Formats: sequence, C-alpha cells, structure tokens
Amino acid sequence: MKFLAFHQILERKSILLLLGIVITVAIGGLVEIVPLFYLKSTVEKVQGMRPYTPLELAGRNIYIREGCYACHSQMIRTLRDEVERYGHYSLAAESMYDRPFQWGSKRTGPDLARVGGKYSNEWHLEHLINPREVVVGSVMPGYAFLANAKLDYRNIGDHLKVNAMLGVPYDDAMIAKAKTDVLAQLDEDSDDYEAFAERYPKAPVGNFDGDSKDVTEMDALIAYLQMLGTLVDFTVYDDQANLR
Ligand code: HEC
Repeated sequence: MKFLAFHQILERKSILLLLGIVITVAIGGLVEIVPLFYLKSTVEKVQGMRPYTPLELAGRNIYIREGCYACHSQMIRTLRDEVERYGHYSLAAESMYDRPFQWGSKRTGPDLARVGGKYSNEWHLEHLINPREVVVGSVMPGYAFLANAKLDYRNIGDHLKVNAMLGVPYDDAMIAKAKTDVLAQLDEDSDDYEAFAERYPKAPVGNFDGDSKDVTEMDALIAYLQMLGTLVDFTVYDDQANLR
C-alpha cells in the first residue's frame, strides 16, 4: 500500500508526473541509442566481404522493387533448426553493405540469406517465370516479365557513388567502370572480365537468363540471388572463431 500512496502523490502533482515520464522515456531512449555509438566495434571484420557488383546491386534494387522481402527473410538465426536447414547463421558483417538491410520478419517462402549457388541459373530462371513449373504447389507469384524487361543501368555509376558516400568501399575505378562491369559479369570471354573479377572476387559470372541479346532485369536479379551468402568462407571463419 505504501507504493500506492506514493503513486497518489504522482497522480495529484501533474508536474511531478510529467518529470517522471520524461525521466522514464529518457532512460528507454538511452538504452536504444547508446549501443549505436559502438556499432563499429559490434560488426566484426570478416574476410571475404566485398561490395555488390554493379549488376548485383541492380538486381538487389529489383528484389526490393518487387517486394520479395514481403515473403523472404535474409537472416539465418543461431537456432539449430535454422542452421541445419539453411547453413551457417548470418553474421552482422554479411549485411554491412546493405542499404537498407533485407533481414525481414516474414517467411512465407524460405530464408534466402544463403541461396547463392544452391540452384543453377536455369532453375532460377524457370522458377521466377513460373514457380509451379519447378516446385509443385508453390504459392510464390511468377515474375516472367523480368525476362523481357531491359535493365536500365544508365545511372548505375551514380548508384555506386551514393553507396560510397554512405561508407561502402567503392573506389574511383569501380565507379568509373560500373557500366562496363555490368556487361563483363555477363560474359567471361569479354576483354573487361579480368579487371572486373579482380575488383569483385567470387562474383558469379555467366549469362544468367540464358539470352545474350539484352541485359534484362532477370539477369540482374539472378546474379544477385546467386551471390547471396557465398562471400564468407566459413571453413576459415569457424577456424578463426575457435582460435579466439
Ligand atoms: C507471396 C509470397 C512470395 C513472394 C512475394 C516471393 N516469393 Fe519466393 N518463394 C515463396 C514460397 C512460398 C517459396 C517456396 C516454394 C517455391 O520454391 O516456389 C519461395 C521460394 C523461393 C526461392 C527458392 C528458395 C529455396 O531455397 O528453395 C527463391 C530463390 C525465391 N523464392 C525468390 C524470390 C524472389 C527473387 C522474389 C521476388 C521477385 C520472390 N521470391 C517473391 C513465396 C514468395
């Protein structure tokens, strides 16, 4: 009853109550804000992470535009069933170049954080054109139009530049070569391929939509899907983690 009596005072003196509210909210705010100042040390450095290639970045934009995140998360939690189903749990560093991140909270479809390399390009193409063609009873919508939509990558250099301003380590050469790098990723035999591969190690390469006539939005989206979760070498990562 003592506590109730104290509360009665609070309720009767509005200024006191206001002060109490301000203090309580301030504590809650600090708890949320202070950790952000230590974010740099929260994201551990991990070998293998590189910025997205221009084509992957374009594909990522399509992924966001089409709302794939509404049904797919990109974060494998540390729970055993998730690790057994999807692979190594996600590291903070793996989404450090994501603006905005695609962790998501809804899984109508499976998590896609490590879908890269799981299927062939042809599988993705068929699946995106008509999911029910390859997965019986799938409720995922088809995105056949992406195969006919020419990719508009005229501004891709500017896109890299904005990311660089926000802290993604794109250097001047990467920005200057953004457009040629889009084409180089689609053709291993092109003259620009070697320089491209040096700039972006482990980038998937090939004619992703099986049609070499145009660069399509399908090319970009499949390039993006094929790199998801493939950059960090987890045999090396776990060895290092054991040494710590
Ligand atoms: C309405 C919800 C929904 C939307 C929107 C959606 N998906 Fe799916 N997706 C699913 C479901 C359900 C599955 C599982 C069945 C299947 O494989 O088709 C799936 C499966 C997948 C798979 C196979 C994953 C695996 O590990 O087998 C990929 C890749 C994929 N989706 C990519 C996409 C992309 C890219 C987009 C956006 C262009 C997208 N999805 C939009 C529901 C959705």
